[in-house]
Amino acid sequence: MDPITALLEKVLIEIGPHDSGEPASYIPELAESDPNLLAFGVVGPRGRVMTVGDDGAEFTIQSMSKPFVLALALHTFGREAVFARVGAEPSGEPFNAISLEAGTGRPANPMVNAGAIATTSLIPGADIDERTAAIVAMMSAFAGRSLWIDESVYASESATGDRNRALAHLLKSYGIVEGSVHDAVETYFRQCSVLVTVRDLAVMAATLAFGGRNPVTRERVVSERVARDVTSIMASCGMYDFSGEWMLRVGLPAKSGVSGGVMAVAPSQFGVAAFSPRLDAHGNSVRAQAIVAMLSDRFGMHLLEPHESIAAPGISVQESAAGPVVRLGGELGFAGAERVLSMLREIVTAAPNAAVITVDAAELARSHPAAVMVLQTEIDSMAPRVRLLQ
Ligand code: DON
Repeated sequence: MDPITALLEKVLIEIGPHDSGEPASYIPELAESDPNLLAFGVVGPRGRVMTVGDDGAEFTIQSMSKPFVLALALHTFGREAVFARVGAEPSGEPFNAISLEAGTGRPANPMVNAGAIATTSLIPGADIDERTAAIVAMMSAFAGRSLWIDESVYASESATGDRNRALAHLLKSYGIVEGSVHDAVETYFRQCSVLVTVRDLAVMAATLAFGGRNPVTRERVVSERVARDVTSIMASCGMYDFSGEWMLRVGLPAKSGVSGGVMAVAPSQFGVAAFSPRLDAHGNSVRAQAIVAMLSDRFGMHLLEPHESIAAPGISVQESAAGPVVRLGGELGFAGAERVLSMLREIVTAAPNAAVITVDAAELARSHPAAVMVLQTEIDSMAPRVRLLQ
């Protein structure tokens, strides 16, 4: 067994015995799910998927669909058009609250139901089937396989979805939902009923973690900007009225669903997903949250954990006949440029006057325009003793 899977197995053993909470009962079909199921997994930068527990179990994606429909709306219409219809503020309220802005009726954010129905209503399509197909195609690209719907959960959700219908009618009265309320809300029920496994969810989360490119299929699904926008909203609003506490303790953009799933994004590190149907009073899975919290702690994934790498690009110095060559590798950010420049000043002072110092930035994996600009400006001021290769 590889060392990461071994660590995951240890977490599984520690969390397994916890049995508080109950599966969601307001959707009758969800109340039937086996409360003892437990699975989780992570996907790393090279697309390796590591899962443990009941990782073959399928469950409906529920509210974890919301980030992907937001991604589709942003991909289709851009940031301004989408956020004209739905806010970007945590509501501090439960998922099914009437969190609408006074006066405009704009829902607080796209993660609560009102905001998600507003986002879904934006997705183009002649009817429910066309809109659903577009949404499922986007989710499938995130997951790297063709997903589809559990018709009995959909039927159960539609049969008991009057609160969501009421929210949709309110949105229509404010002009936030245009067109058919029925189509918007049934499409929302269908998106919630898409079947996934923890593997699928971990790959979907990883696609967000790696800037919109699926690390397994290597397909670019959405732009870096869209992935960043979605992840930002998950960070502030993904866990409803537990979002602030979650950020404090776990520190990962995340989204929960009433089926018992939690998926989390560790940017540039891992996509994470966990599943266990027993929920707490906020409608979040007890054991899935505990697992993500434990992984964040043990793997050092808290978003606000300080990191050395962004401030320290790879720097190696070699001698050549003309003078020293300073080779840069990895990522050059703003703080990293400062570090390169202070090293460069020392090299310039130590080198003989006749030496030409070359800064070779051609092998950088990633560079930020402001960092390159700072480097270029300073190196220009040291010419002809120093030159930059890009
Ligand atoms: O809107 C609903 O009732 C569900 N289909 C989705 C809610 C959900 O998953 C809330 N999240 N924890």
